[in-house]
Amino acid sequence: MTQQTSKGVSRRGFLKGSSAAVAASTVVAPTVSEGAEPGLEVVSGETSITLMVNGKSMKATIEPRTTLLEVLRYEFDLTGAKPVSLDGSSGASTVLVDGRPVMASTTLALTVVDKEIITCEGLNDNAVPSAFVEHDAQQCGFCTPGFVVAVRAFLNRNPDATEEQIRTGLNGNICRCGTYANVLQAVIALVKGN
Ligand code: FES
Repeated sequence: MTQQTSKGVSRRGFLKGSSAAVAASTVVAPTVSEGAEPGLEVVSGETSITLMVNGKSMKATIEPRTTLLEVLRYEFDLTGAKPVSLDGSSGASTVLVDGRPVMASTTLALTVVDKEIITCEGLNDNAVPSAFVEHDAQQCGFCTPGFVVAVRAFLNRNPDATEEQIRTGLNGNICRCGTYANVLQAVIALVKGN
């Protein structure tokens, strides 16, 4: 027996209509590939890439899962960025990609092809490292390259930063030796032009 709703549509007819609507929405829903950023492609197996690092064009053959940190350290012998925390939480692998600080340990090398990569070895001025030395802002030094790159990126965007802004701006970098007070003094001195 077919039941009728108050508006005269049968329950069976309603369900059939609903199913059709669901099927239709499935057909017209955008697929993942349709929504993907133009230019992205699926890559598998060993792949040859060219990265622009510290102003030089450098080639490597990598697997898709290879991180930028692995390429820098083990293919290009640029060992400044450190594998302290592979989830990026220490900030020790900080490098600049198109001027922005990123964690090389959590960045796939394939995603930075055609971008400008600057590591601590390629910073074009010595002001930040000199300030770190002047203010004794390192002990074991393991965090220092990442800190130096993070400070350079921060000061490029905030040349007149206050102490509070410096504290906030550098909170992604961790120093197990606890040199924070001296790092802070180094950055304050840089802002003041000392
Ligand atoms: S100086 Fe040792 S971790 Fe920062």
